[in-house]
Amino acid sequence: MSIARYLLSLVEGPLKERAIKRLASQQPQHPFNRENWGRSLTDPTGAYEDAVRHFYHTLPQPLRDHRVYFYGTPGKRRGFGEHAFHTLWNGLLNDIKPKSFLEIGVFRGQVISLVALWAKINGQALQVCGISPFSEAGDAVSKYQGGLDYHEDTLKNFAHFQLPVPELVKAYSTDPGAKARIASQTWDLIYIDGNHDYDVARQDWEVCSRAVRPGGLIVLDDSGLSTSYQPPRFASRGHPGPSKLATEIDRKKFVEVLQVGHNRVFEKK
Ligand SMILES: C[S@@+](CC[C@H](N)C(=O)[O-])C[C@H]1O[C@@H](n2cnc3c(N)ncnc32)[C@H](O)[C@@H]1O
Repeated sequence: MSIARYLLSLVEGPLKERAIKRLASQQPQHPFNRENWGRSLTDPTGAYEDAVRHFYHTLPQPLRDHRVYFYGTPGKRRGFGEHAFHTLWNGLLNDIKPKSFLEIGVFRGQVISLVALWAKINGQALQVCGISPFSEAGDAVSKYQGGLDYHEDTLKNFAHFQLPVPELVKAYSTDPGAKARIASQTWDLIYIDGNHDYDVARQDWEVCSRAVRPGGLIVLDDSGLSTSYQPPRFASRGHPGPSKLATEIDRKKFVEVLQVGHNRVFEKK
């Protein structure tokens, strides 16, 4: 880290903490349910703040503990994302009660294990599949640490929460085998969070948009740049590739139903 970045982080850290504490001290303004999801499309910034409040005030404790486990401490993070995304996943899962879930881009298993934990707590049978190279493979905007067995680590994280072993496909999402696996069934809920370069995100959307069932949902990560969302200083608006892709989604086939920060949710008609 350069000296300038280090000095900036000394100022930024406490400011981020203060912004989070302010929201954590407030009660949510609206229930996080489908009746209120539409608000997030007209006021994504306000809706994001409410999702942060829900994390602290209404999210079931085991799911909050799960986030604490993956968020870890600086330099020892097991997962990306933001606290508000646990509110998002809990809300989506409670709403559509999926029987199948697919994630592209697993990293260390935060989201697939969250979904599996939700299923365990709610006594729901749920098929969980993750497609990822399980290596430090990154993209134009992301670098991941080397020297870690991502496959073994993901399984270790599942074991920590005493969850059933998921299906892990060790491949790039653009590999023919991975594409064939996605297309081999229909899915209730899909999360696209792999390679953030436009060409790859576009290919992921094409194969997933065909494979998700009518009424099913696709969550597109890092796609907030093409919206009016203005994140608090501890959050991010996303990346150019997925944000551009989001502008190209065929609205005759998909309707946008929810935005929580840089995660946008599309329902297949
Ligand atoms: C941002 S991380 C995913 C974080 C994870 N979804 C979570 O919430 O914890 C992106 C992951 O995608 C993986 N990845 C990179 N290129 C990929 C590709 N072409 N197909 C699938 N995954 C890819 C990376 O190695 C990394 O593990």
